[in-house]
Amino acid sequence: PRHLLDFHDWTPERLTALLDNADTMSQVLDRPVKKVPALQGLTVCTVFFENSTRTRTSFELAARRMSADVMTFAAGSSSVSKGESLRDTMEVLTAYKVDAYIVRHHAAGAAHLVARYSGKPVINAGDGRRAHPTQALLDAYTIRQEYGSLEGKRVAIIGDIRHSRVARSNAELLPKLGAEVVLCGPATLLPRDLAALPGVTVTSDPREAVCGAHAVMALRLQQERMNGGFLASLQEYADTYQVNEALLQHAESGAIVLHPGPMNRDLEISSDAADGGRSRILKQVENGQAVRMSVLYHLLVGRE
Ligand code: CP
Repeated sequence: PRHLLDFHDWTPERLTALLDNADTMSQVLDRPVKKVPALQGLTVCTVFFENSTRTRTSFELAARRMSADVMTFAAGSSSVSKGESLRDTMEVLTAYKVDAYIVRHHAAGAAHLVARYSGKPVINAGDGRRAHPTQALLDAYTIRQEYGSLEGKRVAIIGDIRHSRVARSNAELLPKLGAEVVLCGPATLLPRDLAALPGVTVTSDPREAVCGAHAVMALRLQQERMNGGFLASLQEYADTYQVNEALLQHAESGAIVLHPGPMNRDLEISSDAADGGRSRILKQVENGQAVRMSVLYHLLVGRE
């Protein structure tokens, strides 16, 4: 089966086809009856070992919009709390003969592990700090929707880069589609080795990062992964790195503002920037549904 675990084996052509197909799905979602029979008779299982609002709901809706049955597995209310392993849990779900798995897990590589023994397509819905490919696809789709193309666009990603699977997936995806990525944060939250990726640079200077940027993405400070280290003061962080109107003055005049959510308002992003005319944050959420419909269709039915 084919999987979406990260973008290692995905060509620009195949990625562009996915985004083109999301345009078609978006047209379906604009109709009064938002349902097509594309996945009728198939069952999709969401397997979430970490909390989620956007990713899980949009995948479930995406599957239902295409007439699939959906089974929801939430680890928090399952026998995982009694010590059942990931593998044993997956074997239980596999016995139900579902047709695809959407997996979120706190451990990097968990979705790869499931892909190795599930025998069915697996979509990585976020594994530790490693990858969150459908988030990056919906980010790319949102930028493309604004500018028509990603070719030659500069995308500044500012915040807790170290703990961010969103930053890693965007750093992998956006250059494949012709964009330049600048990753920015304080030194303790900015792994410099990411600059080895083609089309990616790193800087700790937020003004340098946003200079000439067509899109500025703020990332959440993942304090639950910091154990009190990494930042001396949240106020000092906000004073320097917050995405706000003052910082956006240094970006391209029409630059859009993105955030994958959930947001720490007035920490990594000001409410003015989050709710203002440049913000495409709710557009990202809306686009998540069409993009995830496209991914499900591509893996379960679609031709290249
Ligand atoms: N962006 C994102 O993955 O949000 P959730 O954690 O709410 O799914």
